[in-house]
Amino acid sequence: PQVIFSGIQPTGVPHLGNYLGALRQWVKLQNEAPPNATILYSIVDLHAITIRQDPVQLRQWRREMLASLLSVGLDPKRSIIFYQSDVAAHSELMWILSCYASVGYLSRMTQWKSKLALPENTSPLDPSTKTKLKLGLFSYPVLQAADILVHRATHVPVGADQSQHLEFARECANSFNHNFQHVLVPPETILSPAKRVMSLTRPHLKMSKSHEDPKSRILITDSREEISRKINSALTDSVAGVTYDPLNRPGVSNLIHIMYHLDETIADSCEALAGDCRDLSLRAFKERVIDAVDEQLKSVRIKYEELMQPNNDHLLSDISDEGSRKASANANATMSLVRGALGL
Ligand code: TYM
Repeated sequence: PQVIFSGIQPTGVPHLGNYLGALRQWVKLQNEAPPNATILYSIVDLHAITIRQDPVQLRQWRREMLASLLSVGLDPKRSIIFYQSDVAAHSELMWILSCYASVGYLSRMTQWKSKLALPENTSPLDPSTKTKLKLGLFSYPVLQAADILVHRATHVPVGADQSQHLEFARECANSFNHNFQHVLVPPETILSPAKRVMSLTRPHLKMSKSHEDPKSRILITDSREEISRKINSALTDSVAGVTYDPLNRPGVSNLIHIMYHLDETIADSCEALAGDCRDLSLRAFKERVIDAVDEQLKSVRIKYEELMQPNNDHLLSDISDEGSRKASANANATMSLVRGALGL
């Protein structure tokens, strides 16, 4: 049977990139999975501490992420929703995998370099790098592999920026299985149609929680006024009319991409949608994008505000307690096989 697993870092309320690239797909899979499928979604707080976090802020962000996941439509009766740090087996399997993971492979991966703003060809042992680069950030992909493999996930829905990490997870599973017994499952990547949503202010970069300018991203909890302010100030160009041309018109094309993927029934493709909007002024076009975003996020925002009321604290902690109980049981079953295979 299918096991669906994915994770998101609690580093702020999710943005439209997280929503279109991942969360909406998570909900779809939840709603369409066969009854015997196991579905797990984790708030990966141990990944979040690979960069420095303030404890008060982190506690708040964990709660906000749980409320966000419920607001977009995840149902704790169907999906196991849990905090990564509540399930110790993730860290235990990480240790085991790290005994077989090669430093060479991890050195070539791009995330630690981009997090530290280092050039592509940096080595972890470069004199200027080795004190700045913490072991946890370097081995981030090993923990991510453990998240997936400890649940023997068959399918992992993510945005395009996670492809490299999933390739590494498959490599970890295959090499373990090759050297010991076949107990781990190499997972398949499921990319959503909106693989990569770009920043509103710098449309050649992906929309990200960590960019300093809050106008670069729309949060799933933004009010209509905030959505409108951000889209109206989105960087476009001075070419007349609307066309879909990501290379030459990245800003306008990103808005089309967002609008199309919010509701794929409005046109057959981004090109077709651009054709429908061809004669609109950019101003009028942006108004349509604002309406489309607001329309989709309205119910998410209302549900989120409700869940974040103090009287719902118990509800949230009951959901995460139940999630960690079920996820622990699932992970511990894998760990007995892994320990057995290793002679532990
Ligand atoms: P994170 O928290 O950065 O992002 C969560 C999900 O959102 C997707 N995403 C995007 N998709 C399209 N366009 C964008 N601009 C955009 N920005 C983010 C990401 O691809 C991701 O699917 N390392 C992971 C978390 C993780 C994980 C895992 C994922 C930890 N363990 C195991 C899957 C399986 C991360 O940092 O995601």
